[in-house]
Amino acid sequence: MTSEFSGHCVIVTGGGHGIGRALAERFAADGARVVVADRHGPRAQKVAQRIGGLAVPGDVASPAAIGALVEQAVATFGPVRIFCSNAGITGGFGLESSVEEIDEITRINLLAHVWAAQAVVPAMLEQGGGHLVQTLSSAALISGPAPMGYTFTKHGALGFAEWLQLTYAHRGIKVTCLCPNLVNTGMIGRNEDDEAEGVAYTLPEGLGDIVEPEECAQQTVAAMREGRFLVLPHPQVERSFRRKAEDYDTWLARTAERLRPAT
Ligand SMILES: NC(=O)c1ccc[n+]([C@@H]2O[C@H](COP(=O)([O-])OP(=O)(O)OC[C@H]3O[C@@H](n4cnc5c(N)ncnc54)[C@H](O)[C@@H]3O)[C@@H](O)[C@H]2O)c1
Repeated sequence: MTSEFSGHCVIVTGGGHGIGRALAERFAADGARVVVADRHGPRAQKVAQRIGGLAVPGDVASPAAIGALVEQAVATFGPVRIFCSNAGITGGFGLESSVEEIDEITRINLLAHVWAAQAVVPAMLEQGGGHLVQTLSSAALISGPAPMGYTFTKHGALGFAEWLQLTYAHRGIKVTCLCPNLVNTGMIGRNEDDEAEGVAYTLPEGLGDIVEPEECAQQTVAAMREGRFLVLPHPQVERSFRRKAEDYDTWLARTAERLRPAT
């Protein structure tokens, strides 16, 4: 299929599984040349093979690895037009978290977005523009039951994305942030590596409103086409975000009440 993405070099980090895998497949279906980057090498290989892309194993926790990823992408498919900074982990559950845990989640969920932008924005400016897609979370907009490390890194990443948009939009750099609540991926226990082709995964019960990674990818591409900054696949996230903005103290008090453990 041809589209405005046809022939464009697109990098997707965490592209071997879940939302990243769905984004990689979506862009490939639209004619893009997709680089599937994942620290789990076999996953990256499997997805890249399926979509005719390039697999690059590597960990986004290191700026050198992100630099090398971009170099390899450019050498294979030409200038990077879209960078999907999608890889993320959960963790850093509370104040008792170790220095190592906090360092790891900060590097992957927050600093990797900064290193990706450092690696691609200068060339994007030279070529007249580009698009940075950041997979964040509803936890970037509204705190809730998510762990401490996840909450502060996703909030920070949203702040960075806003800064990018404000600083570079007039020079052709677009930013789109995907902020879902629960998605049917590895983060809630799914393992696509064990799934047979064409067999649907059965979701565990009682988790609430869960969207499919394909729906996230489809809504992200639609937002990119419309030039929208935020992608909110769960309507309740937008409602809660509005309530927070309208009356921060009441929103905090009600959320604290809801989260307080039963005694
Ligand atoms: N699943 C959800 O409910 C949910 C909700 C909101 C946001 N998100 C966000 O979506 C993004 C993708 O997660 P997912 O839900 O698809 O999870 P997933 O576990 O299904 O997939 C994540 C992929 O990223 C890779 N990865 C993890 N850390 C990496 C690193 N340091 N370097 C390179 N690759 C790495 C993993 O190997 C895996 O293949 C994350 O940023 C996550 O925070 C997920």
